[in-house]
Amino acid sequence: MSKIFEQYQIKDLTIKNRIAMPPMCMYSADNAGYVQGFHRVHYAARALGGVGLIILEATAIEPKGRISDRDLGIWDDSHIEGLKSLVDICHEYGAKVGIQLAHAGRKSTVDYMECLAPSPIAFSDRMQKPREMTKEDIKDVVDKFGKSAKRALEAGFDMIEIHGAHGYLINEFLSPLVNHRQDEYGGSLENRSRFLKEVTQEVRKVWPLEKPLQLRISAHEYVEGGNEALDLADIINAVKDEGIDMVNVSTGGVVLCDMNVYPGYQVKHAEIIRDKTGLPVMAGGLLTSPLMVDEILNNHRAEMVYLGRELLRNPHWVYDAGIMLKEDLNPPIQYERAYR
Ligand SMILES: Cc1cc2nc3c(=O)[nH]c(=O)nc-3n(C[C@H](O)[C@H](O)[C@H](O)COP(=O)(O)O)c2cc1C
Repeated sequence: MSKIFEQYQIKDLTIKNRIAMPPMCMYSADNAGYVQGFHRVHYAARALGGVGLIILEATAIEPKGRISDRDLGIWDDSHIEGLKSLVDICHEYGAKVGIQLAHAGRKSTVDYMECLAPSPIAFSDRMQKPREMTKEDIKDVVDKFGKSAKRALEAGFDMIEIHGAHGYLINEFLSPLVNHRQDEYGGSLENRSRFLKEVTQEVRKVWPLEKPLQLRISAHEYVEGGNEALDLADIINAVKDEGIDMVNVSTGGVVLCDMNVYPGYQVKHAEIIRDKTGLPVMAGGLLTSPLMVDEILNNHRAEMVYLGRELLRNPHWVYDAGIMLKEDLNPPIQYERAYR
């Protein structure tokens, strides 16, 4: 059997195959962050299509931490019911479900609210100049990550992913390019990791140890002086004992720059993270072909593979891969005639 269709077990979570849908903002909530009918159809379609693990889009832990004012939110108990409806419908169709807890930091486009960052440097001249976070702000955001994790538990999620990638708030603290702080949250790698460490500790106070906690990172910043995979491995090694179980490896987004992208362009970074931290990884980036995914898994370059835009185009990718790799997959009974 192709490794794509092998189960994967992490902590108390058994995922039926190695394919993950990575978090992808759909900008389709109302402006108070509530789940809409679109989300139920969108996520259920990928569950029905055979995806093993669906990770919900960046979900904001506070209103000013939204990327846009159509992001999903988890800053209030009233968000739990809608999020639970997504978990339940995906479970009904056989997928496991994670949620990405996010704070946009200086990349928030909600321009009627102030935005926060480790240092007062705007992402571009079209975006707000953020306010440098005080220690009180830091404590407050850490606390909100913890409260959001508790809500994620109540909603029934199988995994939490902390968004530490793409130049959003946690990534801003990690990066020497945009963290110019002089206090214990800036400077050395240990100091730049402190905010992530505190967020992880706070999440773990409420997220049971037997449930997996994943960290998403940008393993390469594509600009001289920025973090590279070996730096990220050191950062992860400094915080992983707080309870990080798996790493979702992405790249870029910290500063505006050119990136050379091609199918599988981030897999080499995932391999370095896997090798240097000893943690299982999820790899991806412009992947479409089942043969490529099979190669990554069989050569132990990653434990799971994510397909983003490909799953937007084709929610039934897993069954199509089954046909190509000549596997007998048991598609949903309603669709059986399409696979004979
Ligand atoms: C529409 C869209 C929205 C995205 N939103 C998020 C997000 O909420 N959080 C995140 O970590 N990455 C986000 N990403 C990045 C994807 O998770 C993924 O890493 C990226 O698309 C590369 O994978 P792909 O080439 O298979 O699409 C988004 C990508 C797309 C296309």
